[in-house]
Amino acid sequence: MILVTVIPGFGRELGRQTVTTVALKDVTKVFQDGTVAVDTINLDVNDGEFMVLLGPSGCGKSTVLRMVAGLEDPTSGAVMLGGEVANDLPPRERKIAMVFQDFALYPHMTVGDNIGFPLRLSGIEPGPRGERIQDVASALGIGDVLARKPSQLSGGQRQRVAMGRAIVRRPGLFLMDEPLSNLDSGLRAELRAEISGLTRELGVTTIYVTHDQAEALTMADRVAIMRKGVLQDVGTPTQVYGRPATLYVAAFLGSPRMNLLEASVYVHLDRYVTLNLGEQALYLPWDDIRSRAVAHYHGERIVVGMRAEALTPVTPDTAGDVLHGRIRYLEHHGHESLAFLDIGATAIVVDEMGSRGESSAPGQRGLRRFGQVMQRIAGRSADAPVSAAPSGSGNRTSVLPDPGRHHRRPAELAVRLAPYPAVSAGHPLTVQVRMDALHFFDERGDRIDVGWR
Ligand SMILES: Nc1ncnc2c1ncn2[C@@H]1O[C@H](COP(=O)(O)OP(=O)(O)O)[C@@H](O)[C@H]1O
Ligand SMILES: [Mg+2]
Repeated sequence: MILVTVIPGFGRELGRQTVTTVALKDVTKVFQDGTVAVDTINLDVNDGEFMVLLGPSGCGKSTVLRMVAGLEDPTSGAVMLGGEVANDLPPRERKIAMVFQDFALYPHMTVGDNIGFPLRLSGIEPGPRGERIQDVASALGIGDVLARKPSQLSGGQRQRVAMGRAIVRRPGLFLMDEPLSNLDSGLRAELRAEISGLTRELGVTTIYVTHDQAEALTMADRVAIMRKGVLQDVGTPTQVYGRPATLYVAAFLGSPRMNLLEASVYVHLDRYVTLNLGEQALYLPWDDIRSRAVAHYHGERIVVGMRAEALTPVTPDTAGDVLHGRIRYLEHHGHESLAFLDIGATAIVVDEMGSRGESSAPGQRGLRRFGQVMQRIAGRSADAPVSAAPSGSGNRTSVLPDPGRHHRRPAELAVRLAPYPAVSAGHPLTVQVRMDALHFFDERGDRIDVGWR
C-alpha cells in the first residue's frame, strides 16, 4: 500500500499548489431582502479549465464567484472544491486568488513590493521572493517597471500588477470578476490574450466573469451563460454560438445580433415544411432531418434565427432559398457594412438586459429599455410600433408568453455587405439564406432540434 502524505507547499514548483476542480450543486443564493441572485445552479469546472461566466449586469455572476471564494454563503446547495464540500471552509483556506474590476494597489509601495506582498505575508525570504516576483513580472511584461510606484503606471500596467499579485502565490484557483472592464478597448483585447495565455501556461483553473460576449467567446475553454440567476447554457464557444440552447443565448452571442423572426409552420408531408415569415416564406426540405422536429409545430408559431453570416446578397432573380427586402438603413463599420432590410416579417427582440425589473409592472422597464435599444439600432424614435401583447388573441400559441422576455417589432434583417457598398437606404436587396444555418426556437424560447450536442 502506498501512503500519500500531503506536504504543504510541496507542489509549488509545479506552478500551482493543488489540482483544483470546482463544482456547484444546486446552488441558490437568496439575499435578506428576498432577491434571488442565484437560482439552483449546477456547474462543473474542470482542472486547469478557463471557464467564463457570461451574462448581463445583475444576473448573479459576482454572487457565484463570491460563493466560490467563500465571501458569501449559499442559501442552499453545495460548493465543492477539489471534490470536497467547501461550504464551511474559510476563504483563506481555499487557495484562491481573486482579481476584481476595482482592484487596489498599495500606492506607497513599488510595483515589485506590490506583487511580492502576499509572499512577504507568508514569510517567504527576500531572495526567493525576488526571484518569484521577477518571474511573474516578466511573464506579464512588466519586468522593467518593478521599481516604479503605481501612480507612474498606465492603466494596463496597473492591471498587470494586480494580476501579478494574484498569481504570485500560485493559487489553485483563479477568480476574476470583470478585471478588464475599466480599460479602453485596445488594451482590453491585448490583455484578454495575455490573461488566457498566462492562466493556461500556469495550468490554473480559472473562473472569469464578464458581461462582454466577445470577451467570453475569445477567452473561454467553456462559457456558462446566466440570466436572472439561472444558468441558460454551458459549452465551448463553438457549441454555444453554433447551437444556442435558448433564444436568450442566441440573442446574447454574436455581433451583429442573430436575426430572430416569427414564423408560422405549415407541413407539406413528405415534401417540405413551410416557414411562413409574413409576406415571404422559406421551405425546409423534408430530407433535412430538422424538418421532422419543426413539423411538430404545424399550425403554430416558432422563432427562426439566422445570423448575418447565413445571409449572402445575390441578384434579385436568384432562385431558391432567398428573401427579398428593401434597405431601411446602413451601418458602416470600416471593415464591413451592415444593411438592415425590411422583409415584411416580424422580429422577436429578446430582453437582453435580463433586467429583473419589478414583477408587479411586467414589461414596463423592459419595454423602455427595448425602446432605447431600438433607438440605437434603428436610429428612429422609440415610439415606433412596439407590441408587447401577443397578436391573434384566441390563438393558443404565443411567441410572447411573458412580455419581459421577448418583444416583437417589424423585422430588420441584418445583412453583411462589403465596406461602403454601392447601395443605399431605400434600395431593394435580395439575400440567399443558408438553410443549414437556421436556428429554431419554440414559444418558450427553447431550442427546437434533433438530438443534442
Ligand atoms: N448584498 C446583497 N443584498 C441584496 N441583493 C444583492 C446583494 N448583492 C447583490 N444583490 C443582487 O443580486 C443580483 C445579482 O447581483 P450580482 O451577482 O452582483 O450580479 P452581476 O455580478 O451579474 O452583475 C442583483 O439583482 C443584485 O442587485
Ligand atoms: Mg458583478
